[in-house]
Amino acid sequence: MERLRGKTLLVGLTGGIAAYKAAELVRLLTKSGAGVQVVMTRAAQQFITPLTLQALSGRPVLTDLFDLGLESEIGHIQAARSADAVIVAPATANVLAKMAAGIADDYLTTVLLATEAPVIVCPAMNAKMYAHAATQDNLSVLRRRGVMVVEPEAGSLACGEEGPGRLADLSLIVEAACRALTPQTLSGARIVVSAGPTWEPFDPVRFITNPSSGKMGFALALEASRRGAHVDLVTGPTALAHPPFVATHRVTTARDMEQAVKALARDAQAVIMAAAVSDYRPEDTAPQKIKKSDDDLVIRLVRNPDILAGLGADKQPGQILVGFAAETEQLLENATEKLRKKNLDLIVANDLTQPGAGFRCDTNVVKILDRSGGVEALPCLSKEETARRILDRIEALMRITKPGSDSR
Ligand code: C5P
Repeated sequence: MERLRGKTLLVGLTGGIAAYKAAELVRLLTKSGAGVQVVMTRAAQQFITPLTLQALSGRPVLTDLFDLGLESEIGHIQAARSADAVIVAPATANVLAKMAAGIADDYLTTVLLATEAPVIVCPAMNAKMYAHAATQDNLSVLRRRGVMVVEPEAGSLACGEEGPGRLADLSLIVEAACRALTPQTLSGARIVVSAGPTWEPFDPVRFITNPSSGKMGFALALEASRRGAHVDLVTGPTALAHPPFVATHRVTTARDMEQAVKALARDAQAVIMAAAVSDYRPEDTAPQKIKKSDDDLVIRLVRNPDILAGLGADKQPGQILVGFAAETEQLLENATEKLRKKNLDLIVANDLTQPGAGFRCDTNVVKILDRSGGVEALPCLSKEETARRILDRIEALMRITKPGSDSR
């Protein structure tokens, strides 16, 4: 979570049993490089001790509004000012009601009124309390004011009941913090990203594929979504979990991928084809597993459709098309040729022979080529950072091609 490095997050704990999970949240946030300042309500301290949170955050926990030592510099205003984002986890029905009403009767609620930083609330409570009209109305008020709500999960609750009320998965809360800290530069845009390999079967249990992990495409989808875009991720088979807040469509073959990408691309301002699509597929797929014999087996391969070339051939006005070129030789020549032939706006070229580049790695070394012949060579970066750089370039092109813009 590079996005959190160096940021100051204020984590407010309120008095619910899920307070014990907030200890792990604080650990995760601290581990990602953020400075975490914990604030606890009186009730939260009944469930978990400030000492635990102090040990995990490495900072004294703020609890008492009238502590003479800590309040010498009007600490609650200081805390409110220094936070880049405030996360309330768990958020009880009580604190949500206080926030909606603007009550400031303890450290946390005072900070929540004083801060101008983005606020994320993570409700956790009994299912009936959560469903109660008062709680739901309070959440609507908070949403209208721009508070981000990370909805609770449904499941068996500590009170013995079943239903929505369980604190959201911590990875979702961390992701919400990343979003809150990301300028919403793609808000309102629709972006399609493809990722992963395709599987081209020749019998029910065997197929032709490649070692693509899907990591680059998933990183692009996540980053575009963090910037506020509606993202459709079309992915071949990968071991990766769905990126949070991204509409993920799982496909198997190149032809499945073509169908999904084409349909979604109609309304998209940008399409990024990061998938390693198999160029060929077996001509026939045997209905049963092919039995071994003493003879050699010959499988005839036929061409798969080139999805990106198809999109480029009848490109929508103003749409940005981005391709990838994974090469083992003549990187720039081959990538330039693909950019031109497929009618792309950008092509991201990576030399598979370089250490730290290409399939399966967590890093990539790419060059971004544009239509005017420009080549931006990026150093070896994490796929997360590479995704950011690629999206910066796409955003710049989107600004140029925006309807009403006269620059193109
Ligand atoms: O021509 P080449 O396969 O190297 O081009 C790579 C680019 O084209 C990638 O962006 C890939 O996703 C896309 N592609 C495609 N359909 C194919 C093969 C590749 O869209 N059948």
